Amino acid sequence: MRRVTRDQLAKVSVKLNGRAVSAEAEPRMLLSDFIRQALGATGTHVGCEHGVCGCCTVLLDGVAVRSCLTLAMQADGRAITTVESLAGEDGALNALQQAFRNNHALQCGFCTPGILMSFTDFLRRNPKPSEEQVVDVLSGHICRCTGYAGIVSAVLEAAGTRDSNTGGKP
Ligand code: FES
Ligand code: FES
Repeated sequence: MRRVTRDQLAKVSVKLNGRAVSAEAEPRMLLSDFIRQALGATGTHVGCEHGVCGCCTVLLDGVAVRSCLTLAMQADGRAITTVESLAGEDGALNALQQAFRNNHALQCGFCTPGILMSFTDFLRRNPKPSEEQVVDVLSGHICRCTGYAGIVSAVLEAAGTRDSNTGGKP
């Protein structure tokens, strides 16, 4: 196997949650590893590492991407938004996070950062989604421990199309 030497490292500069940061990355380093290991933003989770589970989802220039399917170098000069950006500086949850809390939409929370980022992008583009559209987006994520119904309810509550705490019932 070819060894990657230090002189092959390159500086990758990004705006992480509005803050200009940079770090070195090997050419083959995944964006998910760059965010977690080089930038220390461990809110982004890594599960399958081949684009299936969705827990590594972040926004790249405002668009949801699987960071495990993106190279760190592809993010050079671009804006990355992670789950750490959602709550206010005082820790106050944003509307989507609060709706997850209201609707029991998480248990262990491992899948949650990716789901929150997918729906942050989705609700920006489609602020009044149907339940079917929410289910369609959610089909790109795997949650191993909670029911998906609570997540659907949470997104619809955040969009203002369903009241809170319905336990997944319409
Ligand atoms: S870790 Fe990226 S999709 Fe599973
Ligand atoms: S809340 Fe545990 S994997 Fe989704």
